[in-house]
Amino acid sequence: MKTGFVLRNVEFKNRVLVASGTFGYGDETRDLVDVAKLGGIVTKSLSWKPRDGNPPPRIAETPSGMLNSIGLANIGVHAFIEKKLPYLRTLDTRIIVNIAASSVQEYCDVLALLESQNGIHGFEINVSCPNVKEGGLSFGTNCDLTAEITSRLRALTDKPLIIKLTPNVTHIGQFAVAVKEAGADAVSVINTVIGMAVNAKTRKPKISTVTGGLSGPAIKPIALAKVYEVAQSVDIPIFGIGGITNAEDAIEFLLVGASAVQVGTANFIDPRTGVSVAEGIESFARDQALGDVGDLVGTLKAKKDMSVLQSWL
Ligand code: FUM
Repeated sequence: MKTGFVLRNVEFKNRVLVASGTFGYGDETRDLVDVAKLGGIVTKSLSWKPRDGNPPPRIAETPSGMLNSIGLANIGVHAFIEKKLPYLRTLDTRIIVNIAASSVQEYCDVLALLESQNGIHGFEINVSCPNVKEGGLSFGTNCDLTAEITSRLRALTDKPLIIKLTPNVTHIGQFAVAVKEAGADAVSVINTVIGMAVNAKTRKPKISTVTGGLSGPAIKPIALAKVYEVAQSVDIPIFGIGGITNAEDAIEFLLVGASAVQVGTANFIDPRTGVSVAEGIESFARDQALGDVGDLVGTLKAKKDMSVLQSWL
């Protein structure tokens, strides 16, 4: 049974990764998860300098979901190289470093520094965090700027370059086309959906920044539709993200066109979810007598002319 896939020049042993911001820098779960059974780990976003993030409260539970406004809290790229990368290098899985920044130059500086290090297999670029005033959505909702960031970074690396797109735009497919043309190897679809939670008794928002990013099973139908739209728009690989808690969820993403998936919020309930998703996909493919998990990708049985999306694309 073939479970893996190749992105640019890197082979992944299977199609299940853990999503940025839900698995730290890979070392917190060292006694809990056999990460060698994952396709890869995507690190928490790194910026040039350390960031404290937003003031608390910055997480609230919502029906079937989680609202967060972490504000890209992270240890900064220098501490990552010194304190986290040596451990990550010992792991038998692919390491994708997620980068966030407040300026185009900061993205370039962080990527260029990481490019000079061993043990990093690719980069995921966060242009879609809804919780910061500079960078984040102000980049990711501007198609020209998203393309400019992509082409500037493309010039700096021959490793896989993955752009993480926001669902908080009208036509995510247009952004996928723009980053493909600018040199991206793949897109991650989706980052969180802007949301809000209110405490009726105190009449206050449940998180300090009033709005935040919604994740978890509540957003899975949105994520599936966005992956489907992107898959109709471009032919580069898609990492499907959004509310995956089990193998069946992940298979739905493969069917609508994702080449691989990332498990996110479910890690906060059980950090081994990614491993069980990978095992479950493999056994599903076996039961279906497939020789390759990749045979599931984009095989949704849907009449093209029935999709309302077609009139937008
Ligand atoms: O607030 C945060 O750190 C979230 C980041 C993201 O959703 O990209």
